[in-house]
Amino acid sequence: MSFSLTGFVRSARSAAADARPVAAVKTLMSQTFADPQAIAKAVGSFIAADECLYEDDEVSVYTVRFAPHELVPPHNHRMPAFLGVYEGSEVNLLYQQVESGRLKLAKRRVLNPGDTMSIGGDGIHAVHTEHLMPSLGLHIYLGRLSTVSRELFDTETGQSMPFTDANYRMLVRALV
Ligand SMILES: [Fe+2]
Repeated sequence: MSFSLTGFVRSARSAAADARPVAAVKTLMSQTFADPQAIAKAVGSFIAADECLYEDDEVSVYTVRFAPHELVPPHNHRMPAFLGVYEGSEVNLLYQQVESGRLKLAKRRVLNPGDTMSIGGDGIHAVHTEHLMPSLGLHIYLGRLSTVSRELFDTETGQSMPFTDANYRMLVRALV
Protein backbone atom coordinates (compact mmCIF):
# COMPACT_ATOMS: atom_id res chain seq x y z
CA MET A 1 0.00 0.00 0.00
CA SER A 2 1.38 3.42 -0.81
CA PHE A 3 0.99 6.16 1.74
CA SER A 4 1.42 9.91 1.54
CA LEU A 5 0.72 12.62 4.11
CA THR A 6 -1.17 14.69 1.55
CA GLY A 7 -3.36 11.68 0.73
CA PHE A 8 -3.89 11.03 4.45
CA VAL A 9 -4.97 14.64 5.05
CA ARG A 10 -7.36 14.44 2.09
CA SER A 11 -8.85 11.20 3.45
CA ALA A 12 -9.12 12.67 6.96
CA ARG A 13 -11.01 15.68 5.63
CA SER A 14 -13.48 13.56 3.72
CA ALA A 15 -13.94 11.18 6.71
CA ALA A 16 -14.61 14.20 8.96
CA ALA A 17 -17.25 15.40 6.49
CA ASP A 18 -18.99 11.99 6.52
CA ALA A 19 -22.48 11.72 8.04
CA ARG A 20 -20.89 9.50 10.72
CA PRO A 21 -17.46 11.10 11.16
CA VAL A 22 -16.34 9.08 14.20
CA ALA A 23 -16.95 5.77 12.43
CA ALA A 24 -15.44 7.06 9.19
CA VAL A 25 -12.24 8.31 10.87
CA LYS A 26 -11.92 5.05 12.87
CA THR A 27 -12.11 3.10 9.62
CA LEU A 28 -9.56 5.39 7.96
CA MET A 29 -7.15 4.98 10.88
CA SER A 30 -7.39 1.19 10.98
CA GLN A 31 -6.99 0.94 7.20
CA THR A 32 -4.03 3.34 7.21
CA PHE A 33 -2.23 1.72 10.14
CA ALA A 34 -2.68 -1.79 8.72
CA ASP A 35 0.67 -1.05 7.04
CA PRO A 36 2.76 0.96 9.53
CA GLN A 37 5.94 0.40 7.51
CA ALA A 38 4.43 2.22 4.53
CA ILE A 39 3.86 5.25 6.80
CA ALA A 40 7.40 5.02 8.23
CA LYS A 41 8.81 4.88 4.74
CA ALA A 42 6.88 7.94 3.59
CA VAL A 43 7.16 10.07 6.74
CA GLY A 44 10.46 8.94 8.26
CA SER A 45 11.78 8.75 11.81
CA PHE A 46 12.98 12.30 12.31
CA ILE A 47 9.73 14.17 12.59
CA ALA A 48 9.18 17.13 14.92
CA ALA A 49 7.47 16.65 18.27
CA ASP A 50 4.12 17.92 16.98
CA GLU A 51 3.47 19.15 13.50
CA CYS A 52 0.09 20.31 12.34
CA LEU A 53 -0.46 19.07 8.78
CA TYR A 54 -3.93 20.51 8.41
CA GLU A 55 -6.54 22.23 10.54
CA ASP A 56 -9.98 23.73 10.07
CA ASP A 57 -13.13 23.87 12.20
CA GLU A 58 -14.00 20.25 11.39
CA VAL A 59 -10.70 18.40 11.54
CA SER A 60 -7.05 18.64 12.64
CA VAL A 61 -4.30 16.30 11.44
CA TYR A 62 -0.93 16.03 13.18
CA THR A 63 2.26 14.05 13.05
CA VAL A 64 3.26 13.35 16.65
CA ARG A 65 6.49 12.23 18.25
CA PHE A 66 6.68 11.35 21.94
CA ALA A 67 10.14 11.54 23.47
CA PRO A 68 11.48 8.78 25.73
CA HIS A 69 11.81 9.55 29.46
CA GLU A 70 8.94 12.01 29.40
CA LEU A 71 5.48 11.67 30.86
CA VAL A 72 3.03 13.88 28.96
CA PRO A 73 0.63 15.12 31.67
CA PRO A 74 -3.04 14.10 31.69
CA HIS A 75 -5.14 16.24 29.35
CA ASN A 76 -8.37 16.23 27.43
CA HIS A 77 -9.04 17.33 23.84
CA ARG A 78 -12.69 18.48 24.01
CA MET A 79 -13.29 16.68 20.70
CA PRO A 80 -12.95 13.08 19.52
CA ALA A 81 -9.29 12.11 19.09
CA PHE A 82 -7.84 9.27 17.01
CA LEU A 83 -4.29 8.03 17.58
CA GLY A 84 -2.18 5.66 15.53
CA VAL A 85 1.43 4.53 16.01
CA TYR A 86 3.75 3.56 13.16
CA GLU A 87 7.10 3.33 14.96
CA GLY A 88 8.07 2.69 18.58
CA SER A 89 5.57 1.98 21.34
CA GLU A 90 3.56 4.35 23.46
CA VAL A 91 1.67 3.78 26.66
CA ASN A 92 -1.64 5.58 27.04
CA LEU A 93 -2.88 6.03 30.59
CA LEU A 94 -6.62 6.68 30.51
CA TYR A 95 -8.11 8.45 33.51
CA GLN A 96 -11.55 8.94 34.97
CA GLN A 97 -12.51 11.89 37.12
CA VAL A 98 -13.94 10.68 40.40
CA GLU A 99 -16.25 12.61 42.73
CA SER A 100 -13.54 14.40 44.66
CA GLY A 101 -12.26 15.78 41.36
CA ARG A 102 -9.23 13.52 41.56
CA LEU A 103 -8.10 11.37 38.68
CA LYS A 104 -8.34 7.61 38.82
CA LEU A 105 -6.34 5.47 36.41
CA ALA A 106 -8.97 3.50 34.50
CA LYS A 107 -6.93 1.76 31.83
CA ARG A 108 -3.38 1.35 30.54
CA ARG A 109 -3.17 0.69 26.83
CA VAL A 110 0.07 0.08 24.92
CA LEU A 111 0.06 1.05 21.25
CA ASN A 112 2.61 -0.76 19.10
CA PRO A 113 3.25 -0.08 15.40
CA GLY A 114 -0.02 -0.62 13.55
CA ASP A 115 -2.24 -0.02 16.59
CA THR A 116 -4.89 2.68 16.70
CA MET A 117 -7.08 4.03 19.47
CA SER A 118 -9.86 6.59 19.78
CA ILE A 119 -10.67 8.81 22.76
CA GLY A 120 -14.01 10.54 23.28
CA GLY A 121 -14.27 14.30 23.69
CA ASP A 122 -14.19 14.19 27.48
CA GLY A 123 -11.58 11.42 27.66
CA ILE A 124 -8.42 12.19 29.64
CA HIS A 125 -5.08 10.58 28.87
CA ALA A 126 -1.39 10.81 29.75
CA VAL A 127 1.29 9.34 27.49
CA HIS A 128 4.81 7.98 27.74
CA THR A 129 6.89 5.77 25.49
CA GLU A 130 7.32 2.10 26.31
CA HIS A 131 11.03 1.88 25.58
CA LEU A 132 14.06 4.13 25.15
CA MET A 133 12.99 4.98 21.61
CA PRO A 134 10.58 7.77 20.67
CA SER A 135 7.14 6.74 19.48
CA LEU A 136 5.93 8.16 16.19
CA GLY A 137 2.35 8.46 15.07
CA LEU A 138 -0.41 10.33 13.32
CA HIS A 139 -3.37 11.90 15.11
CA ILE A 140 -6.71 13.11 13.81
CA TYR A 141 -9.04 15.31 15.89
CA LEU A 142 -12.61 16.19 14.97
CA GLY A 143 -12.26 19.95 15.44
CA ARG A 144 -9.71 22.75 15.53
CA LEU A 145 -7.34 21.51 18.23
CA SER A 146 -4.96 24.49 18.35
CA THR A 147 -7.56 27.00 19.51
CA VAL A 148 -10.08 24.93 21.49
CA SER A 149 -10.00 25.62 25.22
CA ARG A 150 -9.10 22.38 26.94
CA GLU A 151 -7.53 21.24 30.17
CA LEU A 152 -4.43 19.76 31.70
CA PHE A 153 -4.62 17.92 35.02
CA ASP A 154 -2.26 17.56 37.93
CA THR A 155 -2.11 13.80 38.59
CA GLU A 156 -1.36 14.25 42.28
CA THR A 157 -4.10 16.75 43.17
CA GLY A 158 -6.56 16.21 40.31
CA GLN A 159 -6.59 19.98 39.82
CA SER A 160 -7.50 21.01 36.27
CA MET A 161 -6.03 24.05 34.57
CA PRO A 162 -6.08 25.57 31.10
CA PHE A 163 -3.91 23.80 28.51
CA THR A 164 -1.19 26.40 28.06
CA ASP A 165 2.50 26.01 27.27
CA ALA A 166 3.41 27.28 30.75
CA ASN A 167 1.08 24.82 32.52
CA TYR A 168 2.31 22.01 30.30
CA ARG A 169 5.95 22.74 31.21
CA MET A 170 4.98 22.80 34.89
CA LEU A 171 3.26 19.41 34.75
CA VAL A 172 5.45 17.41 32.37
CA ARG A 173 7.50 14.81 34.29
CA ALA A 174 10.77 13.07 33.55
CA LEU A 175 10.62 9.29 33.73
CA VAL A 176 13.76 7.64 35.05
FE1 LIG B 1 -3.67 13.80 23.72
